[in-house]
Amino acid sequence: MRGVVLAGGLGTRLYPLTKVTNKHLLPVYNKPMIYYPIETLTNAGIEDILVVTGGNNAGDFLRLLGNGKAFGLKRLHYAYQEGEGGIAEALGLAEAFAEGHPICVVLGDNIIEKNIVKAVEEYLQQGSGARILLKEVEDPRRFGVPEIDGERIVRIEEKPGHPKSNYAVTGIYMYDARVFDIIKGLSPSERGELEITDVNNAYIEMSEMQWSVLDGWWTDAGTIDSLLNACNLVAKTGANNLD
Ligand code: DAU
Repeated sequence: MRGVVLAGGLGTRLYPLTKVTNKHLLPVYNKPMIYYPIETLTNAGIEDILVVTGGNNAGDFLRLLGNGKAFGLKRLHYAYQEGEGGIAEALGLAEAFAEGHPICVVLGDNIIEKNIVKAVEEYLQQGSGARILLKEVEDPRRFGVPEIDGERIVRIEEKPGHPKSNYAVTGIYMYDARVFDIIKGLSPSERGELEITDVNNAYIEMSEMQWSVLDGWWTDAGTIDSLLNACNLVAKTGANNLD
């Protein structure tokens, strides 16, 4: 299985912190933000990783991460997203890297307390389709939110006014190679982006979507409040713990 970290976008919600640098290079407690999703993947045994980035500071990722040796990576690849066409657009740039292998995608601003070892094992047993990780949250309205019927996700709504569950769809996704054809068929949403939620809904419509609930805390770090929360959580328990 190959890993993809999506670290494009403009990070405007963190302005002016992101005026002269990329959001994913900002510190979260004692490490640059991008370290956390990379470690989430390496902890699950994924050593072949692509980082998709963009903007004016893309070169700084190379200076920071180099060839990935410090993370014990076999290979570290880079791709460049022009503009901010959405998470699914950024993921589309990973097609040549994936070479038909299944992929585990982590959004560059998602940080977890524990690990995804079990979920990756479950996905590999599943054999095909997609798997997403859900987490119960207090206010699901700023996330993708699933409507669940028994064991089945019926549909996911992106940032709904009236959420149909208390779960957020975290930024950790596993897909088979069909994901790239699905992305090619997407149209931009009202906010002008290719939405990862539309990709997930396509798998749901094919009855090829499974899900797990993530153990331990999960946060994004894309707003001032969530960045502060992420720093405090990491200071308290550390992140990407293996036990
Ligand atoms: O954090 C989980 C949430 O992430 C999910 O619940 C939502 O369904 C999903 O749409 C996403 O929501 P956000 O509004 O928080 O996404 P945001 O625009 O902040 O982008 C998250 C990361 O994705 C960002 O840190 C880098 C990457 N990204 C984003 C965009 C828009 C890209 O690589 N390229 C892009 O064009």
